[in-house]
Amino acid sequence: MSDINLSSRLKPLMQRGCDFLGTHLAIMGGAMSWISERHLVGAISNAGGFGVLACGSMDPALLRAEIQETQKITRLPFGVNLITMHPQLDELIDVCLEVKVSHIVLAGGIPSAPAIKRIKEGGTKLIWFTPALSLGKRLVKMGADALVIEGMEAGGHIGPVCTSVLSQEVLPHLAEQVPIFVAGGIGRGETMVSYLEMGAAGVQLGTLFVCAKECIAHANFKKAFIRAPARDAIPTTQLDPRFPVIPVRALVNEGTKLFLEKQREVIAQFDTSKLSKEEAQLEIEKFWAGALRSAVIDGDTKNGSVMAGQIVGLIKEELPVREILENLIGQSEQSLLHREL
Ligand SMILES: Cc1cc2nc3c(=O)[nH]c(=O)nc-3n(C[C@H](O)[C@H](O)[C@H](O)COP(=O)(O)O)c2cc1C
Repeated sequence: MSDINLSSRLKPLMQRGCDFLGTHLAIMGGAMSWISERHLVGAISNAGGFGVLACGSMDPALLRAEIQETQKITRLPFGVNLITMHPQLDELIDVCLEVKVSHIVLAGGIPSAPAIKRIKEGGTKLIWFTPALSLGKRLVKMGADALVIEGMEAGGHIGPVCTSVLSQEVLPHLAEQVPIFVAGGIGRGETMVSYLEMGAAGVQLGTLFVCAKECIAHANFKKAFIRAPARDAIPTTQLDPRFPVIPVRALVNEGTKLFLEKQREVIAQFDTSKLSKEEAQLEIEKFWAGALRSAVIDGDTKNGSVMAGQIVGLIKEELPVREILENLIGQSEQSLLHREL
């Protein structure tokens, strides 16, 4: 399979990101739990991008098998996303080091110092999510080889700041020190180019890859994406500051309403001393456990969690990964050409 052609205008903008990732394009396919498995990840890497395996729901044995199966699909580089809260984080890191994963993408906070040391000494490149400049600076000092800055337009768990503001906050201060990949709300090449011109080394996209032909998500999940306008991708609401909810951006459905009712019910039980604070918080957090799986794998898009970013409104059809990337590159080239006219 030949590489997607890059002009002498776009190539230099992507060079740093490509060198860091070892790819032809500075485009990462952001890890998506249940979705970013061997087929999608292999297809993204084979088309010149950088696939990232999601391992939020895997144990070490499953992760090892998934990496090995992905290595059978592609010989090109791909990464593994680890969530720092995972109870078996150390064992998952061991697996990545043993099977020589080139890049680990850490999300969800800061792991222990020995864990960071092992990743670095193992020769694996460390990419870290940051939702703010202050944390970004800290992560660079702690050894991040690159950063992903993700704005709140993104699908899944989100921070409070939008991508356009986060980029202006972080890129001028940290882009010279480490490669930075911008994520959240990128659905077309023009937008991708604008972040590259601001100093980003590359971009990370999630939502746009869900309706890839190679993606194993259930047909109902993909249909929901194709039908949804941007305004349907909304963050989950927290009812009571005593019980924090990390916002998750997903398509509004019956599950969204049930989540509000659940919070109301649990808070009432806490207020009448039927539940302790810890029990109530756990009840709230448990609600979404498995909800993404039931939507992605079983196709229950009514009650499950259909996590999607705001650019969902741009998705009109199922396309092969390669065509998705070709469209992005084509739009990028056009926008760069217009600047010269
Ligand atoms: C369905 C879905 C599941 C996701 N799961 C994860 C995850 O497990 N780990 C993670 O670090 N990011 C996760 N993300 C975020 C993506 O990796 C990526 O950063 C984000 O989708 C980029 O924004 P976009 O959706 O606007 O393209 C998820 C996103 C979606 C849409």
